[in-house]
Amino acid sequence: MDDAVHDFIGDVKRILAEDGPSESGLDRIAARMRAFVRHPDVLAAHEELKGNVHTGRQSAPLYTDETGLTLVRGRFGPEAMTPIHNHGSWGVVGVYRGRDRYQVWRRLDAGDQPGAARVELVEERIMGPGDVAVLPPPPQDVHAQQGADGEAAYEFVLFGKNAMVLPRLYFDPAHGTAREVMPGQR
Ligand SMILES: [Fe+2]
Repeated sequence: MDDAVHDFIGDVKRILAEDGPSESGLDRIAARMRAFVRHPDVLAAHEELKGNVHTGRQSAPLYTDETGLTLVRGRFGPEAMTPIHNHGSWGVVGVYRGRDRYQVWRRLDAGDQPGAARVELVEERIMGPGDVAVLPPPPQDVHAQQGADGEAAYEFVLFGKNAMVLPRLYFDPAHGTAREVMPGQR
């Protein structure tokens, strides 16, 4: 697993040096993530997690550095959809176990702050093992997730900034608002 993470991060850094977190750069990182979540060593190193990234109970990042580049393992339970949220960072999601009901949302106003905020659902899809999704740079890194078929989904998320310490926005489409939440808070 350590070797697979090392190789993955090395390739990601090469891609970022060449393309940055542009659309084409993120597409290349997504392709690399697709290989990472299918790697036998990665699959063999599965760890059960309790809760999910929105309850504050999660493992330490598998990788993080001074640039903010951070790789985490995430679990999304079937009980409920996460809040509609962002992380203040681009990211690449890769599912490796279970199936993930994944919603892409778009912020319609020009803002990137809490307070008044309008969002709309762009797409909902089911992601299975080996499927990947790109979180575009903020403010459009808005999404929601839930384990599908009554079971938890497990995945890796690579963030451009350390999203484990950045505030997030939780969106309420019915009221046209967003509120700021620190990781681990509800
Ligand atoms: Fe998220």
